[in-house]
Amino acid sequence: MGAVKMYRCRICGETYLGSEAPAMCPFCGAHSEFMIDPVDYPHDINDVQLTEVERADLETAIDIELSNTRFYLAMALRDDNPALASAYKRLAAVESEHCSLFSKIARMPKPADLREAGDELGSWDADIDESCRREKRASALYAEFAARATNARVIEVWNAVSAVEADHIVLDGVAKGYV
Ligand SMILES: [Fe+2]
Ligand SMILES: [Fe+2]
Repeated sequence: MGAVKMYRCRICGETYLGSEAPAMCPFCGAHSEFMIDPVDYPHDINDVQLTEVERADLETAIDIELSNTRFYLAMALRDDNPALASAYKRLAAVESEHCSLFSKIARMPKPADLREAGDELGSWDADIDESCRREKRASALYAEFAARATNARVIEVWNAVSAVEADHIVLDGVAKGYV
């Protein structure tokens, strides 16, 4: 193994130790291009003057991430397929990180029920189809939000997270093979 370095994710701000940058941030899923040297991380990166549209879009996204986190937490509680339960527990953690990030940029407290499981649909097949529907919606919506945002940081975040949600659509396809 090469020398261990520290990386910091420009999107979520979490750090990662390793001999090379991970393909995806283990916390928010942002792609490796956002994994930077911590000395290059601007301390005021999330000090953003939001337009009304940007604020409203962040609030919409906070609701989406909250709902998706709670849906995945419910999937993670199913006891008939430990591998899939674990995969969706991971997904819940990623969506929760998105919720925290959007709350931070909007300068709002994190939703109080972010760690509470919601409802799932009763079968892996139905749940994974629902996940796919949610991820397609989030990915498309964040691309729309990016197109109408004006602040460079806000645009960067929407595009990065839209790509992460697109990765989750692929993940759902992989998960289907393990039902
Ligand atoms: Fe990240
Ligand atoms: Fe998300």
